[in-house]
Amino acid sequence: MGLKMDKKILSLFVLVAISATAHCGNVYDITKFGARQNNDVNQALAQAWKGACSSKVPSKVVVPKGTFKLSRATFFGPCKAPIEFMLIGTLQAPQNPAGFKDGDGWVTFERIDKLTLYGGGTFDGQGKNVWGKHCDRLNYCSKLPINVRFNFVTNSVIKSVTSLDSKQFHIMVLGGEGLTFRNLRIIAPENSYNTDGIHVGRSNNINITDSYIQTGDDCISVGDGTKKLTVARVTCGPGHGISIGSLGKYSNEAPVQGITVKDCTFKGTQNGVRIKTWPDSHEGVASDMRFENLNMLNVGSPVLIDQEYCPWNQCKLQNPSRVKLSKISFKNIRGTASTPDAVKLVCSKGYPCQNVEVGNIDIKYSGNLGPVKSVCRNVNLKVTGKMNPLPCKFKA
Ligand SMILES: *[C@@H]1O[C@H](CO)[C@@H](O)[C@H](O)[C@H]1NC(C)=O
Repeated sequence: MGLKMDKKILSLFVLVAISATAHCGNVYDITKFGARQNNDVNQALAQAWKGACSSKVPSKVVVPKGTFKLSRATFFGPCKAPIEFMLIGTLQAPQNPAGFKDGDGWVTFERIDKLTLYGGGTFDGQGKNVWGKHCDRLNYCSKLPINVRFNFVTNSVIKSVTSLDSKQFHIMVLGGEGLTFRNLRIIAPENSYNTDGIHVGRSNNINITDSYIQTGDDCISVGDGTKKLTVARVTCGPGHGISIGSLGKYSNEAPVQGITVKDCTFKGTQNGVRIKTWPDSHEGVASDMRFENLNMLNVGSPVLIDQEYCPWNQCKLQNPSRVKLSKISFKNIRGTASTPDAVKLVCSKGYPCQNVEVGNIDIKYSGNLGPVKSVCRNVNLKVTGKMNPLPCKFKA
């Protein structure tokens, strides 16, 4: 009996000892791999990652205090054990975007399970000189790198880091599953073109919480195939607000399902919460979307469904969108709008929105172009609680 007990205690000690060494012993500090401030740390980072990722015990890559130039980096998994990436200092992108192709990330994490990215540091995209340069021509803007991409990353946490002045989207998540984004700061000026804060597409079980996103485009945008996304306690602005879509531009888009946006604040954004689909579009589905407990401070269109989304007149507006929207609620939304159409639900005449609920909305219009109002088209609306603006009258 006594011997058995001792063995148990001993193996417990051994376990504790092993995990303790794992934690302290497997630190891959990039300065140990030749990284120097103001030099390109691409090689040092690659080596540190290789060591940490091939380690059989949990390990971490550390970028210490200081500013390190980085031409680009791709961190591939799978790794042999959980891995941490501790960014304390700043990684700084080249100002010149030459060499990046469509959809490239400046920093990319790919096919990794159990990644923790944290540390208080900054991904500095140095986008100042590229925004607004001939975006309409030669796909110049789509070739600009995305600051940080997560491709097929699973069961991971990204927290307490900053994305600054991205050249294009700040953060893009594709094929992700079980991801938490928390305590992020995403910062670019209002006039920075196409710098969406976080774009999520084709992903499942994603939470974005407790973050500040000030940028020139969508605060958070949600692409096709996104399921179970929760956004909570995020402050957006400046920028274009939180968008589902745009949807319907491409064939075979996967459904969007199970989106919750709650307890968020929008400051001076072009829109608050918006669902946008292209007219004359491919088929698509988006359902189960809840928007609740939202503060609007001087927001252009606080509540918006736009199934006639057609920037730069690229489409035939007379043909309706074929994206079916259903089970949508907008509840407990208060504050001020900078245009009179505070609640605007413009659905497709081919596929009217089904099962849309609005309730307890109290939005004041701050300007002098008439009273605050609701605008509706092709929507089957249920109203609960008080409404200001008054809900539109409709014929069922
Ligand atoms: C996200 O939040 C939801 C609801 O709070 C929770 O059920 C889910 O497990 C969370 N997912 C992750 C990846 O943290």
